Amino acid sequence: MRLDSFLAKALQQSRAKISPLIAKGLIEVNHKIVKRKDMHISDDDEIRYMGEVVTYQAFLYIMLHKPSGYISATKDAKDPTVLDLVPLNRDLFPMGRLDKDTEGLLILTNDGKLAHRLTSPNHDVPKTYLAILDLPMTIEEEQIFQNGIDIYDGNQHLFHTKKALLEKKDELTYHVTITEGKYHQIKKMFMKFGKKVTYLKRLSMGPIKLDPTLPIGGYRLLTKQEIELLKEI
Ligand code: URA
Repeated sequence: MRLDSFLAKALQQSRAKISPLIAKGLIEVNHKIVKRKDMHISDDDEIRYMGEVVTYQAFLYIMLHKPSGYISATKDAKDPTVLDLVPLNRDLFPMGRLDKDTEGLLILTNDGKLAHRLTSPNHDVPKTYLAILDLPMTIEEEQIFQNGIDIYDGNQHLFHTKKALLEKKDELTYHVTITEGKYHQIKKMFMKFGKKVTYLKRLSMGPIKLDPTLPIGGYRLLTKQEIELLKEI
């Protein structure tokens, strides 16, 4: 089969969209960058796109380094969405949500069953964020924050947060781990103490950590190992 036909099938793109990926040197066959789209490949060849092995699979799992300014949805009337950053025509959607101004790890997939399971409120998947505040927290406030507090969820129902973990990095910077994902949860939790979150970035979701080599706005396929870890949660 021709290389561009295989990639068109695997990534569900037209051959016209595949050609520039090959021309840019993003495709390797057996560890060598290939720039000939009409190259013939066989089942024994290993094809990589941006370093990751491409096989024809029904489901795709993508790690995106979400920039601020993008909505975690498939469509929006006003603002760009995270799907504008990932030009793969595979019915992808974000697994969970980050606020428009939050950066960091967002997993996109078309595996509805897995996404539903991992984002279900009964499934305590720990998510760690880097949060920078405008004012310092006292030790007592940190304790109360970690033990659980009452905030309003997105439907204005009072909600008691589960135990959280705060790791102080400097006077105004924390790594915060929560297992829930209520609307604006981290911002509301700090706001309970009168502190405003001035910067928020998700660093990890369960065993999946934001790849430090991914530039803001960049994406890559999850590795086979990462996909297995995700399915084990
Ligand atoms: N908590 C927030 O307040 N915002 C996010 O984007 C994620 C968690």
